Formats: sequence, structure tokens, C-alpha cells
Amino acid sequence: MTNQSLSVHAEKFLALEDKYGAHNYHPLPVVLERGEGVYLYDVDGKQYFDFLSGYSAVNQGHCHPAIIETLQKQASKLTLTSRAFHNNLLGVYEQYITNYFGYDKVLPMNTGVEGGETAIKLARRWGYNVKGIPENEAKVIFAEGNFWGRTLAAISSSTDPSSYKGFGPFMPGFGLVPYNDLIALEAAIKDANVAAFMVEPIQGEAGVVIPDDGYLKGVRALCDKYKVLFIADEIQTGLARTGKMLACDHEGVRPDILILGKALSGGTLPISAVLADDEIMLQVKPGEHGSTYGGNPLACAVAMTSLEVLRTENMVENAAKMGELLRQGIRDLNSPFIKLVRGKGLLNAIVITHSNPDASWDLCLYLKDLGLLAKPTHGDKIRFAPPLIINEKQIQDAVAIIGEALKKLG
Ligand SMILES: Cc1ncc(COP(=O)(O)O)c(C=O)c1O
Repeated sequence: MTNQSLSVHAEKFLALEDKYGAHNYHPLPVVLERGEGVYLYDVDGKQYFDFLSGYSAVNQGHCHPAIIETLQKQASKLTLTSRAFHNNLLGVYEQYITNYFGYDKVLPMNTGVEGGETAIKLARRWGYNVKGIPENEAKVIFAEGNFWGRTLAAISSSTDPSSYKGFGPFMPGFGLVPYNDLIALEAAIKDANVAAFMVEPIQGEAGVVIPDDGYLKGVRALCDKYKVLFIADEIQTGLARTGKMLACDHEGVRPDILILGKALSGGTLPISAVLADDEIMLQVKPGEHGSTYGGNPLACAVAMTSLEVLRTENMVENAAKMGELLRQGIRDLNSPFIKLVRGKGLLNAIVITHSNPDASWDLCLYLKDLGLLAKPTHGDKIRFAPPLIINEKQIQDAVAIIGEALKKLG
């Protein structure tokens, strides 16, 4: 193991978390206190490239000036009214985001997992009211390897024992098919009680697993054939991350229900959104779903600016271009420890091959020491997902750091 370069000052913060916080995370030993653009700074002033971007919540870069300006302005004016009353930003935001993505309506929530829960409730309700599924018989199908959060419903669809083991009993009415397998999907959704198939266009937490070309088109066609809703969980892949505004845009498909989160606030607040057309959205009536914070004026203002800067600062194009450079740069390192480099835009992962089972963790510690923060996922994979404002020189510097760190693994 490397590291233990933590200062006495930094150690104090780790000790506090260890003593007073639940032990439900295993972070890298670094204590951050400031962020700007593609960089993070620790409590001792050391600078790092952020290659995780808050699990793709900080697509626009840390403390994006326009987003922070909106946040500060709105925070000093009005933050929360609850949905018991109207506010002067909700409708404006709803118009903005539905026009932006081309849906009739939006249902605003907070965290990503609430977005997933909301989408499933909408699909069940549509299944009963429109498709004619008998009451309490609706099924929703998921792909193996999915990750959409930590609620009981989310872990009920999980195939990862570290998510679900010891937390049962689980939600009924959920089914699973292998990811990237249209034959299995067809067999599952032939069942007349299936209301929806919920899927990530690229599986992020599973280690940036990219389906074959044509998979999403196939999903769309099968869902149409069997009158099943296609729910796209674009919480991690959406908002320019993969070099398109939505990952579904790579195949030109339009999901029936689109879930967004994370970068909808540029990393400042939990903001999620579920988008759908009237036939689906209007099945839910007043009092049947909601959230105290969902659609609050602060979130509405921040979300509009967060979406605006993706466009005005050409983050889709930059993600596509910088992603190519990053993957090529890493491949050119010709490291014997990299089995695979994969990704789209700036959602990338490397798969490590090494006799030491802790090699990915060790590599992340070396990267940290050299000034780049990334985190292993599922053992041998490391995600490289910097903010979408990264430039060519910064990509080159980051690749050089990755090369140095890989040498140390030897
Ligand atoms: C694809 C996907 N869906 C949903 C979620 C859950 O989002 P949140 O942690 O905001 O609840 C995540 C989080 O990583 C995710 O990657």
C-alpha cells in the first residue's frame, strides 16, 4: 500500500468521520475543502484533477460561476414554498426543461433515486389505467448490473449483493434480464402484465458498460411492439456526459420516460426530474405523489442555469472531443496493467489486470499522490469522468499522471 501522506491536520477530519459518522462509505484518504473548474483542493492546499466529478454531478465544473451566481441570487430571495402554494419559478422551469428535452411534462424531484421511484410509480399507474393491467399485477423489468440508488425499491432490482444482501424482504413485481440482450428482453416483456423496462443507456456504476450498437434502438422497437414503457435512467449518462446531450441520442431513440438528476444542478443541490408525455404523466392526480423540496424555487433557478451553460459552453462537443483524446492517450501508454479502456465522451473506465487484487485501489492512491482523484468501482475498474470543461492541455497532463501512477504499480 502507498500513501499515508495525510497531514496531521487532514487526519483530524478522518477521525471525526470515523467516530461520529455511519461507516457506509470507504473513501480515498483525502480531505477536500475547495473546488474550481476541473480541480479540487485539499485542506493542505494541494491541487488535484477531479476525475470523478461527484459521480457525474459536476459536469459543468466545480463552482461554475454562472450556476453559483444564480444560486446565490435566488437563495437570498426565495428558497422553498412547498407545493402547497405556487411560486414564480416552477412553471418557468417546467416550460424550459420540457422544451429543452421535448416532452409534454416534467415531475420535479430531488435525488436521483427519487426520480427512479417516481418513474416506476408513473409506469405502474399507466399500466393499470392505459394498458389495462389488472390491479396490483404490474411488473417492471430491469437489466442485470443496474444501479439506480439505495432505497428499498432500488435495491430490490439490484444484482449486486453488497447493495441488497441483508436488507430484504424486497419489492414484488420486479424482473431482471441480462443487459445488452434483446432476446431475453423480448421473452420478458411479452408478458402482458409488464408495464415498463427501466435501463441505463450505459451502465455507469457497473463500470461504464456500453451495450452493442443498436441495443437502444432494439429496446425501443420491442417496447413499441409489446406496449411497454421504455424508461431511460440518464441520471449518470445524461446532460452531455457521454458526448451527446443524452446517451439515448447516440442511437436517436426517445424513451417514454426520461430520468435526469446529478448534473441538473451542477453539483450544488439534489435536483432530479422525470419527463414524460401527457398520456403517462397525467395519470397521477393531485395528492398522489410529491415531495416537500421537489420543484422548489431555488432548484428551479439553479437547474435552468445548469442546463443553459451546457449549451452555451458547448459541453456536448467538448466531452466528445476530450473523451477521444483521453481514451487514445491512455491506450498510447501501452501499460501492461490496463486490460481495457472503454467509454463514450467523458464517461470512461479502465479495467486493471494485475496479480495484486488490490491493484485498482493502490493505483487510485498513487494517482491521488500525483494529483488526480479517481475511485475504483467493482474491484478492477476505475472510472475516469472529469468535468466536461476540461481542455486538451489538462487531458495531456492527466494522462501523464496516469502513466506515472501505472509505472508505480509494477
Ligand atoms: C444511473 C443512476 N441512477 C440513479 C442514481 C441515484 O442517484 P442518487 O444517488 O442521487 O439518488 C445513480 C447514482 O449514482 C446512478 O448512477
